Order: sequence, then C-alpha cells, then structure tokens
Amino acid sequence: MDTVHHIDALRAQLQVWRREGARIALTPTMGNLHAGHLRLVEAARRRADRVVASVFVNPLQFGPNEDFDRYPRTLDADADKLAGAGCDLLFAPSVAEMYPHGRDGFTVISVPRYADLLEGAFRPGHFDGVATVVNILLTLVAPDVALFGEKDYQQLLVIRQMARDLHMPVEIVGVPTEREADGLALSSRNQYLLPAERAQAAMLYAALQRVGEALRAGRRDYAALCATEIERLGNAGFRPQYLTVRRPDLSEPDAADREFRILLAAFLGKTRLIDNIGLITETV
Ligand code: PAJ
Repeated sequence: MDTVHHIDALRAQLQVWRREGARIALTPTMGNLHAGHLRLVEAARRRADRVVASVFVNPLQFGPNEDFDRYPRTLDADADKLAGAGCDLLFAPSVAEMYPHGRDGFTVISVPRYADLLEGAFRPGHFDGVATVVNILLTLVAPDVALFGEKDYQQLLVIRQMARDLHMPVEIVGVPTEREADGLALSSRNQYLLPAERAQAAMLYAALQRVGEALRAGRRDYAALCATEIERLGNAGFRPQYLTVRRPDLSEPDAADREFRILLAAFLGKTRLIDNIGLITETV
C-alpha cells in the first residue's frame, strides 16, 4: 500500500487505475483506526478493485470547544492497519493541502434536512464541516462507491442526501457498527475514558437495547420510554444529551410505525459518546 500526502500524487495513481477500468472505493476516516474502521475497508474490498482510504482530521467539523487539538493522530499505525485490511492507497493530506487558502469565505456544503437536529443541535456547524470535507474527498477521488459507518447514523444520512442532491455518481454504502464484547460501539474517543468510565460505558448500548425490546413488545409511548432511560443514565453518572426513537429518516414516529432508529448522545466525564441501533418490529 502506498501513502500519498498530496493531491497531485493521489490523482496520478487514480488515473492509472481508471485507465485499467478499475472500480474504486473510498473510505474516509480521521485516523486512529480501530476494528470498526477496518470493517469499512473490508466491505470496500468486496465491492471494488481498488480501495482508497483517507486519514484527515478535519478542522471544519470540530466546534471551538471540541477535541480537534487532542484528537489522536497515529498515522504510522493507521497505515499498517489499512495495509493489513487490504487497502491499496492511503491519502493523508495536511490541513494546508486540503484548505490552502484558509477557511475564510470557504465554500460550505449544507444539508438542511439533517444539519440542525439531534447531533446537529448539539454540535452547530458540525455537519456542514462533514459534508464539505466529504464533498471534497468525493470530488478528488471520484469513487464508484464510498463507505460510511452506521455508528454515525445521522452523518450517513447527511452524506447520502448530499450525494443525491448533487447528482454525485457514487453509491453510498452504510456498514453496521462494530462493538466491543460488552456492546460498547468502537470509537476513537473511547480511549479518552478512564478505566471506571470504560466499564460503565456499556450502559449506553444496554439502554438502546431496552428501548428496542419495549418497542418489540408493542410499546409506542416513545417519550416515556426514552425518559426512563435518560433518567437511569443520569442516575448512573452520565449526562445524556438526547435519547430518542425516530423513523429511519429521523422524523418523529407515530403509533403505526414499525421501523425505527434509536439514537443517543451522552457525556461520561469529559468524553462525549454517541450510539444508535435500528430495528423493525413484527407487529404494530
Ligand atoms: P471517523 O470518526 O474516523 O470515522 C470514519 C468512518 O468510520 C465513519 O464512516 C464512521 O461512521 C465509521 N465508524 C466509526 N466507528 C465505527 C464502528 N464502531 N463501526 C463501524 N464503523 C465505524 O466519521 C468521520 O471520521 C468523519 O466525520 C469523516 C466522515 C471522515 C469526515 O471527516
């Protein structure tokens, strides 16, 4: 696997592969890779002849009080993991390579349908930053298929919507969430957790599961179900920001719905964690 840091070198390699008629996949990441990221690369491998991964900690998607500066940067280890998972090319640009003219007056891609709810409400501007950088990456690589994790479910919807609205000739594929044995979704931010917090963090998945079981059992009192779990998490020392039952498109369900996404965000100590699950119930 080659690593390139510059757009020219990326384009040169892609041109060779395109001339060969290769089908190309892209898996964008911010690095500090774990098994969840590698699932994306493996899924990409099955769907394309050549797999490109990007590692870029994108300043546009971090709020002023968020963890841009301390976000873990582990490029050498990331390159080894990507090579092991079957990646063909790593694109690891600097901030100056991606935004050579700075951020002032920079073109922004907004996806209003999803930008301001749930994650967007707690992280203003976040999804503009995500959509903008993913648009750049999709434009540079022009992949046939691009893969994103369901772990960041709202992000997946934002990117799908952007690709659809801008008529991008790319298939956007969602990959199921990879979890630890106790259910905690793998995340680069898990390493911020203190040992006691790490042990507790599995309560988030348990809360999602309990809401899911209640829906399967026919309950449709969404607000009450979520309030119970929010209270339970609060009592256990979390600071929940939201825990909500939605339709797969993130609109509010009514009593007749059968297909759901249950999503949450909560602080545990200084660490902000998000998770979600999807389910389809047999009966209303
Ligand atoms: P990052 O958090 O590094 O995640 C890169 C990709 O890995 C995303 O598509 C994310 O949903 C997926 N992912 C993370 N944890 C996962 C898990 N446990 N199981 C499966 N997939 C998982 O998301 C971003 O970076 C950025 O916003 C990015 C899209 C790269 C734009 O900067």
